[in-house]
Amino acid sequence: MTTTALEDASAPPTAPGTEWWRTAVIYQIYPRSFADANGDGVGDLPGVTAHLDDLKILGIDAIWLSPFMTSPQRDAGYDVADYCDVDPLFGTLDDFDRMLQAAHARGIRVIVDLVPNHSSDQHAWFQAALAAGPGSPERARYLFRDGRGENGELPPNNWESVFGGPAWTRVTEADGRPGQWYLHLFDSSQPDFDWTNPEVRAEFRRILRFWLDRGVDGFRVDVAHGLMKAPGLPDYTPPADSGSMGGDETDVPYWGRPEVHDVYREWHELLAAYDGDRALCAEAWMPTIAQTALWVRPDEMHQAFNFPYLMSDWNAQTLRHVIDESLRTFAAVGAPSTWVLSNHDVVRHASRLALTAENPQGHGIGPNSPGKPIAELGLRRARAATTLMLALPGSAYLYQGEELGLPEVIDIPDDARQDPTWFRTGGERYGRDGCRVPLPWTADGPSYGFNTTGASWLPQPAEWAHLARDVEARDEASTLSLYTRLLAERRARALGAGSLVWMPDAGADVVAFRNGNVTVIANLGDRPVPLPAGRVIVSSEPLESDTVPRDVTVWIEAD
Ligand code: GLC
Repeated sequence: MTTTALEDASAPPTAPGTEWWRTAVIYQIYPRSFADANGDGVGDLPGVTAHLDDLKILGIDAIWLSPFMTSPQRDAGYDVADYCDVDPLFGTLDDFDRMLQAAHARGIRVIVDLVPNHSSDQHAWFQAALAAGPGSPERARYLFRDGRGENGELPPNNWESVFGGPAWTRVTEADGRPGQWYLHLFDSSQPDFDWTNPEVRAEFRRILRFWLDRGVDGFRVDVAHGLMKAPGLPDYTPPADSGSMGGDETDVPYWGRPEVHDVYREWHELLAAYDGDRALCAEAWMPTIAQTALWVRPDEMHQAFNFPYLMSDWNAQTLRHVIDESLRTFAAVGAPSTWVLSNHDVVRHASRLALTAENPQGHGIGPNSPGKPIAELGLRRARAATTLMLALPGSAYLYQGEELGLPEVIDIPDDARQDPTWFRTGGERYGRDGCRVPLPWTADGPSYGFNTTGASWLPQPAEWAHLARDVEARDEASTLSLYTRLLAERRARALGAGSLVWMPDAGADVVAFRNGNVTVIANLGDRPVPLPAGRVIVSSEPLESDTVPRDVTVWIEAD
């Protein structure tokens, strides 16, 4: 790590009132796997607080925390039983306040995850709905329906859960007889709210205010495309090869309904009444960038994850196209483009970019998956992909552990797997555990410094010592040093606020552009290409000649 990197990383983040989210690098913390202060094998909020200095040195602007609210953890916290409290697994509200204050003291903003599409079946409202019976106002907060068939023994429609199996579960009524069915687009422990019910809307306004009043800088909104369902809940069969969140289909009765946007217009107003540029980021898995951009029209959310970018193959033409379209389409509605390569739902990009078989979103990879990645190739491409991404104007999301070059963990034993996808598909889909394995902080010590007890909710691979943060921090050539340099240079050169100009005639297998005084060249082809003139600022791999080798990205200060 160079002195320059450290100095630049300690510079203050964007000032308040400057729409910081337009250019921010936002680091996703998956709390259960980040750092475990109390040694129970699950990461927690005090663990986050303890490592904020490491994130400051890395040079990020903000953190987004996946859910830490009260939850039975059937879907790793995306099944919320109380939206306004911290699950004891992760600490207390005081721990949250301390973490928030410590982050702000370091100039790091904090975004929390909001899960509005569904609650946990342990939520007080759902329990009340079960008790109250058909036709009650309690049931009207969720999507209860009578079944089809002579005795209501068939689900109300044919929808399938994102995690596999039917999207409906039948309840037993108070008199002990089989009764109504409720909709759950995800696990049966995650009943969907009825967002046409004003009570639901009022409750979420209260929840938003609860966290805004505590001082959060914004929300990442879970399944932001799913809240509204087509009237009448018509049957729908997704194509067999679609990703878990809907694939390429445009007219899905539960994704991207036009009415959903009213909810975010309301939330936009609510956030705007607060000081300090609070922001909303949509997790909307829509098939095209144009559709995704609907979530960031001027009176709606501020950012939307760019999943078409994440899903792009390692192919120069595809990337040029998706970058171009992203910048153009988001700019047309006045929003920044975002960029993302990894998160807690997809195969880590250090493995994904070297997969040789199709891998739909959410399916994961395991011991029996076809086309398994070659680790060295995957890491090389991941470093090149990130070096390319962090030169792009707009806001970028990083997922914890990618700065260490962590691969997807493929060999998790079957009996250690925890993702509901694994259970609901009878082991047919491995699901997402492979990208959720607890982080290695130190090469020595139990659980690589994740905690001091050695407990770990998912087993860590035996060969992770060389990927530990302390090892990488001492190594100039490590992925951590690369990320630290990239973030420092991105900040110093204000690349997030820059604009992109394509370099003409760069070659079919090359992605090459200028952003400010930086020329970026990424070689995705088989053969080396000439290195453009100028001083090399950073390269994703060491350069041995005046060429850019395959699967390498270089930043050059133009003459
Ligand atoms: C989102 C989350 C994912 C979760 C699902 C249901 O896609 O990112 O982890 O399982 O929503 O809440």
